[in-house]
Amino acid sequence: MSTIPLHLDTDVVVLPAPGAGPEMSLHAALERRHSSRHFLSDSLSLEALSALLWSAFGVNRREHGGRTAPSAHNWQEIDVYAVVEAGAYRYDAAAHRLILVKAEDLRALTGLQDFVAAAPLNLVYVADFARMKEARDDEERAFFAGADAGCIAQNVYLHAAAAGLATVVRGLVDRRRLAPALGLASTQRIALAQSVGMVGPVMEEGATPR
Ligand SMILES: Cc1cc2nc3c(=O)[nH]c(=O)nc-3n(C[C@H](O)[C@H](O)[C@H](O)COP(=O)(O)O)c2cc1C
Repeated sequence: MSTIPLHLDTDVVVLPAPGAGPEMSLHAALERRHSSRHFLSDSLSLEALSALLWSAFGVNRREHGGRTAPSAHNWQEIDVYAVVEAGAYRYDAAAHRLILVKAEDLRALTGLQDFVAAAPLNLVYVADFARMKEARDDEERAFFAGADAGCIAQNVYLHAAAAGLATVVRGLVDRRRLAPALGLASTQRIALAQSVGMVGPVMEEGATPR
């Protein structure tokens, strides 16, 4: 793996091919899956980010645009935003690249807990209700958006477990401030966020040292 630091200071960042990803049995990854709120301050490499985003919600069946996580009605209504120190980026899964949406450090707005401001990467799962056409009403849209975001979050948990990364999914998000900062449309809702980083020094309660 190259050691290119994650200084994403361009408008479009073409990610390296995700490759085969970390090798670990599904059972071993499930054994290791846990939430951690302790991260080193080091950025993830572009290769690590590439593999993580592909696992999260990348295209795994190019012939029809199928994704690594399921979505109700195959709406694919969740956009994954990658919020790092250099700025906030939207993951364009079809082209496997990042599109700059704000060249500012918005990490603190992605949560209501102290650790999020320093977490090297905060993923934000944003649902676009406009893509959920057959849904009965916004209550049903919110329900499915939460479920679909949860599937993505679990992909990230399992990837993190296999790749030796720390992560925690979060419902606590400063939605009132983050939505305008990301320039979200009125049809878009922030479902969940998820912090990711290299494993920090403090062992989480209940985590097994490996
Ligand atoms: C939908 C959802 C929302 C969560 N929100 C937060 C949150 O805002 N902040 C946080 O620190 N942990 C959050 N968590 C993580 C849980 O606290 C954690 O999964 C739980 O304590 C069990 O620990 P484990 O994941 O290590 O098994 C959330 C988990 C889920 C599934």
